[in-house]
Amino acid sequence: MQRKQIGVFFGGQSPEHEVSVITGLQVVAALDPSQFDVTPVYVTKDGHWFIGNNLGDITRYADIPALLSKAREVALASGPGRTLALVERKSSFIGSSKEILLDVAFLAFHGGSGENGAVQGLCETLNVPFTGSGIAASALGMDKVLSKKMCQMVGVPVVDWLEVWEYEWRGREAAKLEEIESQIGFPAIVKPVRLGSSIGIARVVNQADLDNAIEEAFRYDASVMIEKCVPNLREINCSVLGDGSDCQVSVLEEPVSKEGILSFKDKYMRDGLSSKSGGSKSRGSKSRQGEGMASLDRLIPAPISQELGEEISKLARQIFKALNCSGVVRIDFLMDDALQKVWFNEINTIPGSFSFYLWQPTGLPFEALVQKLVELAISSYENRSGRVRSYDVNLLATRSKGGLKGGKS
Ligand SMILES: Nc1ncnc2c1ncn2[C@@H]1O[C@H](COP(=O)(O)OP(=O)(O)O)[C@@H](O)[C@H]1O
Ligand SMILES: [Mg+2]
Repeated sequence: MQRKQIGVFFGGQSPEHEVSVITGLQVVAALDPSQFDVTPVYVTKDGHWFIGNNLGDITRYADIPALLSKAREVALASGPGRTLALVERKSSFIGSSKEILLDVAFLAFHGGSGENGAVQGLCETLNVPFTGSGIAASALGMDKVLSKKMCQMVGVPVVDWLEVWEYEWRGREAAKLEEIESQIGFPAIVKPVRLGSSIGIARVVNQADLDNAIEEAFRYDASVMIEKCVPNLREINCSVLGDGSDCQVSVLEEPVSKEGILSFKDKYMRDGLSSKSGGSKSRGSKSRQGEGMASLDRLIPAPISQELGEEISKLARQIFKALNCSGVVRIDFLMDDALQKVWFNEINTIPGSFSFYLWQPTGLPFEALVQKLVELAISSYENRSGRVRSYDVNLLATRSKGGLKGGKS
């Protein structure tokens, strides 16, 4: 097999920027150098794309201006065949810029346009294989309302919710508060629909709290969802790997929080972002640069009954297929411990650290996981690109005499 040129893309315009840097650099370290040439591509918080020698070293990210002063800004373009070209944006002479050609875009973004289908669309437009889910699955996965609707369509249980758009709310606040109280009741959970990392999320117990939480959530998103709060809460997550034709599930994890709602701090800042040790009860390889999601306190495998474990694994597979996901995802469930009942909560189509710590116990090391993701990127590209995309007829030539008016039927 020919050596593959892999670009690992991370950072980007998202509240989860730093976590994505960690995930991206974990992937850079895990890609087998005997098979792949790896180019780290760092996207700044204001959306500029950079390459450079130091971008693979996490310690350099403590001082971003110094890092960027030695890096080179690139633009993305379509390369020959099915490659992506990173073209240096030099301010000097036109035509003097160098390019790097990539066979696969390894997308390690979390949140924002890197996970919501937008960058996936850019890759499709530029005709390059990319890791993870396609445009539609990425967009559905990022939207907590749409993903719940898809789950409901295939019979996966979700907690009762209401979505409120800002245009429905303004000027009708009192009536909306009444409506929410009568339909959802208290306690309730308020969340922005298309965000992550627990940002803008609140648990509310009365109308005054609810009012404040909705206003706060509108700072982040144009619609908010209000959900029934699950009592006796335990959270169980399951990773799924593969594509529509064949997928497998990981061991289950139970993330543990002391504060009720898993906070941004719980998720990422246990021992500082670049901590090598993390606070995890399970441990990744010591050579990894920062643990990202692996630093959360968690129990692996989740201490639940075999029966419930099997039910969750079955639901996870069903959801993966219903959304037509590809690559590796993490699906998060809410569980009422007293009732032993579970509901789908959310799906992460680019999970923190690619959930490697849930695959290691199944006998799949991180190095094999990233290789599998590259293979899946290529097979889903081939599955897409083998189709007819245009007809070999030039309408403009054949219709030139009569003009095209009314030609669209
Ligand atoms: N319906 C709910 N009932 C109880 N707790 C919830 C509910 N929804 C969310 N939470 C708590 O809030 C956290 C964050 O919510 P989640 O929907 O996972 O958003 P995010 O995308 O920010 O992770 C969850 O991990 C859980 O602790
Ligand atoms: Mg969550």
